[in-house]
Amino acid sequence: MALKQRLLERKAVIGIIGLGYVGLPMAVTLAQKGYSVIGIDINSERVDSLKRGHSYIIDVPDDEIESLIDKNLRVDTGYNGIGAADVILICVPTPLTAYKEPEVSYIINAMDNIMIYLTPQTLIILESTTYPGTTEELMTERIEKEKGWRVGEDFYICYSPERVDPGNTSFHVINTPKVVGGETAVCLELGEILYSSFLEQVMCVSSTKIAEMSKLLENTFRFINIAMMNEMAMMCERMEIDIWEVIKGAATKPFGFMPFYPGPGIGGHCIPLDPMYLSWQGKKYDYFNRFIELAADINSNMPRYVVQQIERLLNSKKKCIKGSKIMILGMAYKKDIDDLRESPALEIYELLLKKGAELSFYDAYVNYFKKNSELIYSSPLTADTLKTMDLTVIVTAHSNLDYEWIEKYSQLIYDTRDAMSQIESQKVFKLGQNVE
Ligand SMILES: NC(=O)c1ccc[n+]([C@@H]2O[C@H](COP(=O)([O-])OP(=O)(O)OC[C@H]3O[C@@H](n4cnc5c(N)ncnc54)[C@H](O)[C@@H]3O)[C@@H](O)[C@H]2O)c1
Repeated sequence: MALKQRLLERKAVIGIIGLGYVGLPMAVTLAQKGYSVIGIDINSERVDSLKRGHSYIIDVPDDEIESLIDKNLRVDTGYNGIGAADVILICVPTPLTAYKEPEVSYIINAMDNIMIYLTPQTLIILESTTYPGTTEELMTERIEKEKGWRVGEDFYICYSPERVDPGNTSFHVINTPKVVGGETAVCLELGEILYSSFLEQVMCVSSTKIAEMSKLLENTFRFINIAMMNEMAMMCERMEIDIWEVIKGAATKPFGFMPFYPGPGIGGHCIPLDPMYLSWQGKKYDYFNRFIELAADINSNMPRYVVQQIERLLNSKKKCIKGSKIMILGMAYKKDIDDLRESPALEIYELLLKKGAELSFYDAYVNYFKKNSELIYSSPLTADTLKTMDLTVIVTAHSNLDYEWIEKYSQLIYDTRDAMSQIESQKVFKLGQNVE
């Protein structure tokens, strides 16, 4: 088969649809491995930035883009070039609607465009996270119906979830094992050849549905365990037991326990969303996943819990939240990255603002965020600013912050991440601790 040969010889042209946190590192890795890559993104600012040699993704340095652009890596906003691709990887967003239901319109839109240029004998792989059955319904069935081709003979379809963890310095595209499922045995064989040519470990599963479900299971596992720790933290607050030390103790068990941590809420494009895809799909089968719904309830209430604790803490110091000067440290949804998507800090900011707090924030990774049409900028972090604050709230514990210095100049601190664990101080109150 010509495609198999082209894959074995690394002569296949790879098209990547969506050049975000998932698609760009994948495009760069494939181009570095010698593949000819065509990257397509409808966001013209992103495409222009890449053409100028600038990366907008924290894990992809500018020099990597500079060395590849217009050589092994070409980028465009239009799909014209996709007809030349032997393999197409779809890495578009899969958010939720306002009612927390799957929003797969980005996949449908990518497919609308691919269908215009698709040639026979192409392998298409969906990498976006989604509910089991998406690949079959939105891709395989559509191509068979509209083109009259047969999967496994005239075209090939796989699903392979992406596990990239932005900001993770140990695990990146190449050394993170990749699960792949195909619509037929031939599809799977081609998918395996592709990924094995540049990744250290590929795990083949027997269908696209298994691969789709395995990604949702991974993130639902995390979602539920975080919720359990959030609940434990709230319980420990009443019992006056330090949850953070409890976890440290339990985590010394070398088997059967994996530490998860409480926090101000969950964020990013994966953990808060993916379990809702599964819960939604379960309902189609009259299955109501109580674990997911309960965890969603606990996790989504954490920003409110944090604000309540802040209110109580200020009250205990004879201050009211209205008019109090509060500085939020860290707006990104997790440490050492610049991603604001679903960040609990945004909700905490909004809730504190509604209660009349005088707010500012500092985040070395996030210069500004958008609130309606207004741009709210990061303030400078100086000793003088901290001294004037009634309260400093650590929402995201970036590693570049000097917490001893912050403790020195702050009047009062609410720490939602146990960032101050090594510092003995009467000024510091942490999530899960009685603040009164
Ligand atoms: N961000 C993560 O850490 C992560 C990790 C694993 C899996 N995922 C999954 O990967 C998928 C992509 O996530 P992401 O974080 O890379 O999203 P992203 O928003 O960073 O990037 C997606 C890109 O797709 C582009 N796009 C949207 N519609 C398009 C279309 N029709 N044609 C071409 N380009 C289009 C957008 O402009 C954007 O640049 C999602 O399903 C997500 O759940 C994300």
